[in-house]
Amino acid sequence: MTALFLTFEGGDGAGKSTQAELLETWLRERGETVLRTREPGGSDLGLELRDIILHRKGHIAPRAEALLYAADRAHHIATVVRPALERGEVVVQDRYLDSSVAYQGAGRTLNPAEIRSLSLWAAEGLLPDVTVLLDLDESEGRRRLDATRTRYDRLEAEEAAFHQRVREAYLELADAEPERFLVLDARRPREEIAAAIRDRVEELIQG
Ligand code: TYD
Repeated sequence: MTALFLTFEGGDGAGKSTQAELLETWLRERGETVLRTREPGGSDLGLELRDIILHRKGHIAPRAEALLYAADRAHHIATVVRPALERGEVVVQDRYLDSSVAYQGAGRTLNPAEIRSLSLWAAEGLLPDVTVLLDLDESEGRRRLDATRTRYDRLEAEEAAFHQRVREAYLELADAEPERFLVLDARRPREEIAAAIRDRVEELIQG
């Protein structure tokens, strides 16, 4: 049993859920107890917040949006993620604080350093052991979303420049913390990406 906190980041359409699922299956086959979760919406309160954030009709002020994501995070980490880590489980999570820095900090042009502090305050300083960044060009992400969606949520509906800022911010975050981030080109074949992620996680498990 190994308590590990693994997060997946990247633009919409990069394949985070697919890779999180493949990793979860592999970890379970190795006998690990896995909690697969996500933000926003990984708790009971979070599901209500997710609906407001993503589907509310009408404007949400950028700072209010940042605080709603932070509220979701605070409750999720305190009531779901920390208890699982304390039980020695592996937490595999779709999106975490880097999403806030990229989307609210860079996308909404709030101050990324302030958004990071807000998120760390919300999560009482919890950082992932590994963050997998699935890097994808904005136009390719859009093409993939178009293939699967008939409607966009509030964030997906943002203009191309917003999503370009998000991508650049992610790459800057990865540059700043190379020991935490594993950056992979999301255009690579699914199995190759999965194998690279497994290699990194295996190193951690073997410590
Ligand atoms: P996600 O659940 O990944 O979307 P989907 O299930 O539709 O693939 O995330 C929903 C949106 O929320 C996504 O566009 C990114 C955005 N987001 C932020 O803007 N800030 C955050 O802190 C988080 C966690 C997500």
